[in-house]
Amino acid sequence: MSSSSTLSRPLSALAQHVATGLRQTPKALSSMYFYDDAGSRLFQQIMALPEYYPTRAEFAIFEQHGAAIAEALRPAVNGPFALVELGAGDGSKTKVLLREFLRTDADFTYAPVDISAGAMSGLVNGLQQEMPGLQVAPVVSDYATALSQLGSRPGSKGVLFLGSNIGNFAPADRLSFLRQLAAPLAPADRLLIGFDLQKDPRRIRAAYDDSQGVTAAFNLNLLTRLNRELHADFDLANWQHFTDYSPLSGAVRSFLVSTRAQQVRIPALDETFQFAAWEVIHTENSFKFTLPQIEELAAQAGLRVVDTFTDADTDFADVVMAAHE
Ligand code: AVI
Repeated sequence: MSSSSTLSRPLSALAQHVATGLRQTPKALSSMYFYDDAGSRLFQQIMALPEYYPTRAEFAIFEQHGAAIAEALRPAVNGPFALVELGAGDGSKTKVLLREFLRTDADFTYAPVDISAGAMSGLVNGLQQEMPGLQVAPVVSDYATALSQLGSRPGSKGVLFLGSNIGNFAPADRLSFLRQLAAPLAPADRLLIGFDLQKDPRRIRAAYDDSQGVTAAFNLNLLTRLNRELHADFDLANWQHFTDYSPLSGAVRSFLVSTRAQQVRIPALDETFQFAAWEVIHTENSFKFTLPQIEELAAQAGLRVVDTFTDADTDFADVVMAAHE
């Protein structure tokens, strides 16, 4: 297809994002676009890596405190409620809570939201087999769409945002996201957010630069996606994965590093981008938090902390919040 006929069609959200991100200095792309089906599968592998502790730590919290978390998360009024999970993935941790709610005969519908259709169908099929009595109402969408739908969803809600997904927002975006999340909540509704906590900086860095190279493949898959969806010609042999962690800012930053001077053509944008040797594309932030920072964040978003659950090593915190009366 010629570039002129390609350009006569409106640009996809991905194409618009790439145009903006690669024209700016420093170049940056959002980690939201990691999660095509291949990226979602790689993320499943990351969660099982020895170095990637957050998933195991949060799972341990759910295993140890499942009944208390379900109790804190259940809306504070009687009657049916929706359990909405933003970024549900494979739902492995949530299953602990779902079993707990089923065990106590709670009247609820599980509404998982995920950007990956592949991850969602895997989750729904698994749930139908494992928990036949569970009512499931899946939604395939990004966070922004899910947030707008949350406001128009009637009835009581328990909202889950696990896995330290909140750490992937830049600070200003994090606060506005949390405010948008808080806005449709009635005082009886509950919100459970998973936060990765600050700890030994070397452990944190290793979690994002594993010895098997799975995280590198996850980051580089973004370029494969641009090659496939925008017909770009990124040569993956000329790119490396790099991460750093700053204990001052609490941010792990991930980059794709151009190992030589090169140009990349993106026909979907009818544009060629120049990369200097060792120039980077910033692809992800993964912020780590302290418990006082979490309290402050909740307060800034107009929420109160109802309960905080941590694992035995205080690696991770699951915090239940609510809107003020
Ligand atoms: C999804 N998110 C919370 C993960 C994280 O830890 O920031 C994504 C990830 N990136 C590299 N490894 C895992």
